[in-house]
Amino acid sequence: RLLIIDFGSQVTQLIARRLRELNVYCEIHPFQTVTEAFLADFAPKAVILSGGPASVIDDGSPRPPQAVFDLGVPVLGICYGQQVMMHMLGGKVETGVGTKEFGRAYVTPTDKQTELLEGWFLTEREQVWMSHGDHVSAIAPGFEVYGTSPHAPFAITADTARRFYAVQFHPEVHHTPNGAKFYENFVRLAGFDGDWTMGAYREEAVGRIREEVGDKRVICGLSGGVDSSVTAALIHEAIGDQLTCVFVDHGLLRKNEADEVVTMFRDHMNLHVIHADEVDLFLGELEGQSDPETKRKIIGRLFIDVFQKYAKDIEGAEFLAQGTLYPDVIESVSFSGGPSVTIKSHHNVGGLPEKMGLKLVEPLRELFKDEVRALGRELGLPASFIGRHPFPGPGLAIRCPGEITREKLDILREADAVYIDQIRKHGLYDEIWQAFCAILPVRTVGVMGDGRTYDFACALRAVTSVDGMTADYYPFSHEFLGETATRIINEVPGINRVTYDITSKPPGTIEWE
Ligand code: XMP
Repeated sequence: RLLIIDFGSQVTQLIARRLRELNVYCEIHPFQTVTEAFLADFAPKAVILSGGPASVIDDGSPRPPQAVFDLGVPVLGICYGQQVMMHMLGGKVETGVGTKEFGRAYVTPTDKQTELLEGWFLTEREQVWMSHGDHVSAIAPGFEVYGTSPHAPFAITADTARRFYAVQFHPEVHHTPNGAKFYENFVRLAGFDGDWTMGAYREEAVGRIREEVGDKRVICGLSGGVDSSVTAALIHEAIGDQLTCVFVDHGLLRKNEADEVVTMFRDHMNLHVIHADEVDLFLGELEGQSDPETKRKIIGRLFIDVFQKYAKDIEGAEFLAQGTLYPDVIESVSFSGGPSVTIKSHHNVGGLPEKMGLKLVEPLRELFKDEVRALGRELGLPASFIGRHPFPGPGLAIRCPGEITREKLDILREADAVYIDQIRKHGLYDEIWQAFCAILPVRTVGVMGDGRTYDFACALRAVTSVDGMTADYYPFSHEFLGETATRIINEVPGINRVTYDITSKPPGTIEWE
């Protein structure tokens, strides 16, 4: 296995992801925990020193134990990792005006060859991503230069005899287009076969959960979304009946959703699921409320209350499971305390663990969405669950702009079901990142048969996206839109007009509120 020593870079998890894509098993450990004894016990086959925000010149800045360099295994230093390596092995690192470099840069090869760069330089200069304040001004004895950039004469250096490699840029990020090849070369020269799989990840994750939780009980909020479903399935595999799931039905779910989720987890997967039917509570408190933020806050508050109420009766519960993914972790780190404004207060169970005195278990914390899906498949969750479009915590409330009524929710559920059925029938579901129907707070006049109608209008939404942060509307054909509008108006009483939302994000958001 490979050890990544983390010095706090925002992109350390991306290194792990690149390695998993190469079917290599790795673990990330923060530098504080990597002692000499730890190293001896871990016995890594290779080590990667990550980037980080510190400056090696500062007193007390983080270091790996010197023993890392005595293991006789390949070591790769990235950015801060490169600088710390040079500093500890006898080179020199400096800071100063003009040495900072952020963003795109181009590295050109020197006349020396190394296995690490085999097939890497596809053109005479390779695009890379730099993000550093300090720079190496003298390389350590034994090192030679294999790549340079205008601002980083030591962009790629190596001591090939000892298999130490040091690069100034970040090969793991998207903006270093050929970065995967770089890691492939590194793991190959370190002797990895690339035979690690998601099945192996599952076993390791199960082992970690067992160790963490012991014989205690765990509560998990189940929403039926991919993240909470995979979290529940994984934890169930690890600790069986020590897990209790709470499914909160707030009356803002899609057609048949509550039944489908509860049936699947309770009857097919044998999980212990409490079906918290709190429809009256939620819809009662939402009555007469039309401000989007007020609606979100009410739902968030009630959700926590309800969850606590059910959790109180689960004796001996010490842990709360959450389906936090790695992108959620980065977002909360980079935005915490920052000057960013609240566009929407996202609903989640944040703050819940402290309030309830529970410890968190977050077994998906290091995974990306597509990896969670792969793990879900591995755990035997049906494809129809794993491939589901994201569904927001506040549910249909934010697809029903203005005041929510039971009548509007019922109409919306029917229209949405027809729309999604159309998308599936036309084989478009997997091409679209998220699709749903919103019911508009207006009634318009129409004519059906020989009669006048005065019913609600609805808007269809479908977007493509990678992460939900930006999105583009989906270019349906006119035939598809026409057929869908006809079906909704014919099949859903209460709707007599259908529109298609062609706003991208930004400037729009995906949801309507
Ligand atoms: P917006 O509307 O902000 O949505 O462009 C981006 C993505 O986030 C989902 N979303 C939420 N998910 N709780 C959630 O769990 C929320 O409060 C929430 N609000 C929006 C939305 O469905 C889309 O996928």
